[in-house]
Amino acid sequence: GFNWKLADHPKLPKGKTIGLIVLDGWGEANPDQYNCIHVAETPVMDSFKKGAPERWRLVRAHGTAVGLPTEDDMGNSEVGHNALGAGRIFAQGAKLVDSALETGKLYEGEGFKYIKESFPTNTLHLIGLLSDGGVHSRLDQLLLLVKGASERGAKRIRVHILTDGRDVLDGSSVGFAETLENYLAQLREKGVDAQIASGGGRMYVTMDRYENDWGVVKRGWDAQVLGEAPHKFKNAVEAIKTLRQEPNTSDQYLPPFVIVDENGKPVGPIVDGDAVVTFNFRADRMVMIAKALEYADFDKFDRVRFPKIRYAGMLQYDGELKLPSKYLVEPPEIDRTSGEYLTYNGVRTFACSETVKFGHVTFFWNGNRSGYFNPQMEEYVEIPSDSGITFNVQPKMKAVEIAEKARDAILSKKFEQVRVNLPNSDMVGHTGDIEATVVACKAADEAVKIIIDAIEQVGGIYVVTADHGNAEDMVKRNKKGQPLLDKNGNIQILTSHTLQPVPIAIGGPGLAPGVQFRKDVPNGGLANVAATVMNLHGFEAPADYETTLIEVVDK
Ligand code: 3PG
Ligand code: CO
Repeated sequence: GFNWKLADHPKLPKGKTIGLIVLDGWGEANPDQYNCIHVAETPVMDSFKKGAPERWRLVRAHGTAVGLPTEDDMGNSEVGHNALGAGRIFAQGAKLVDSALETGKLYEGEGFKYIKESFPTNTLHLIGLLSDGGVHSRLDQLLLLVKGASERGAKRIRVHILTDGRDVLDGSSVGFAETLENYLAQLREKGVDAQIASGGGRMYVTMDRYENDWGVVKRGWDAQVLGEAPHKFKNAVEAIKTLRQEPNTSDQYLPPFVIVDENGKPVGPIVDGDAVVTFNFRADRMVMIAKALEYADFDKFDRVRFPKIRYAGMLQYDGELKLPSKYLVEPPEIDRTSGEYLTYNGVRTFACSETVKFGHVTFFWNGNRSGYFNPQMEEYVEIPSDSGITFNVQPKMKAVEIAEKARDAILSKKFEQVRVNLPNSDMVGHTGDIEATVVACKAADEAVKIIIDAIEQVGGIYVVTADHGNAEDMVKRNKKGQPLLDKNGNIQILTSHTLQPVPIAIGGPGLAPGVQFRKDVPNGGLANVAATVMNLHGFEAPADYETTLIEVVDK
């Protein structure tokens, strides 16, 4: 078999306990009132930055540094954790779908041939996130797919939209729905029966992750498959405009609706013989719906009806479960991740987060693969998240609980790597609530303290970094960096991630005195972190990994 043995690092010892902390959504930006990390009291993270300059730096976390199509693509947790764990930059879903559409390869693959069998007699359904955010999906890709399918025989097309407002501005879903509506109207003129059939906000309908709340997926199922929802409209633009008026709602949290014809009948329930494509390329928030659409054996909620469909994902979302079994575009082949290597080299690993980010430090970290590489060497602990709330009402989330689990794991001395994701700055940042995000950042900083205190006690090493920016900038800006105002003179809140770099700090009593960041990797990014961590465990990284950020000078 493959030789997993890593070479010994010439200078660094093995067996140190490493506390590896990922602050989700924690970027570096100018200090102003919309930088919640700056506004918050964050003494621990501040002390790293003000400390030895050889042990704190910034790394790139967006665009091509993490395998995204362009430098205008903000970072996100999937590509960020993939890069952190895999130590190499893989062309990611967004890019792979772009090129499969451009070359037409998408239409030649097995997945498309499979769904195409339904076209002569049945409906093609497309379910996914409607925005140009580029994190989970992209509207231009959806339009190209609709076009491509109609040119290849799809005569009846139904789109089930999930409104965004999380990777893009709140309120922008109206415009995206208009663009889609106009496009489908043009198709109708050409004789294709194409319509939006249902919708709902991404955080309330369909796009749950890590089994936090199956009720979310059920609401989607009812609307998309059964054609049932509390709200019925004649068209989607009107639905979104109307439902946005309701109290406590927003694009992200829009209630489910179905589109009905003149007789009040839903225009697009999913029935036997239909083809279904989930058009998101990103995995985490598609795994649950994929299970509902694909598994005959399923007990997470009552599906009422389980239609015999031809289902394909835009990508395969879970490489271990091979889910879904049919897909339109090959996912990035993220192999030989650092986690897998370390299990073969005697490094015992503990990973922990709360539900909403649990898969980030396990599934994403391990290259979109669920489960353990070697249960004897690894322990993954999930702290249940509060469900059914928006995290601005609970900005401290489970930071203390996560940190205490990590502390206990460190003090147990049963692990050489203790890895956590602290979700606060990201999850609260996405709500757009600035005050709550400040509280979130402080809570994350306090959690870091708990973990590095434990590292101190065992003579270990800490590595503190982040997966992408979010809380450091909460306002939409013009090209000059000035805050943009809306019609009423209010600032436009930025709920999404950013293009900012993120910090990485190393330290702790176990860090050999001569270890410092190299100066010759100025463009270092998240993918350089894996080799760095392997070095700190006492190993050389594999030759094809992105280079290490550290060197050891004689002291
Ligand atoms: C989400 O899925 O919540 C956002 O689209 C992206 O956030 P994440 O990349 O931090 O998970
Ligand atoms: Co996020």
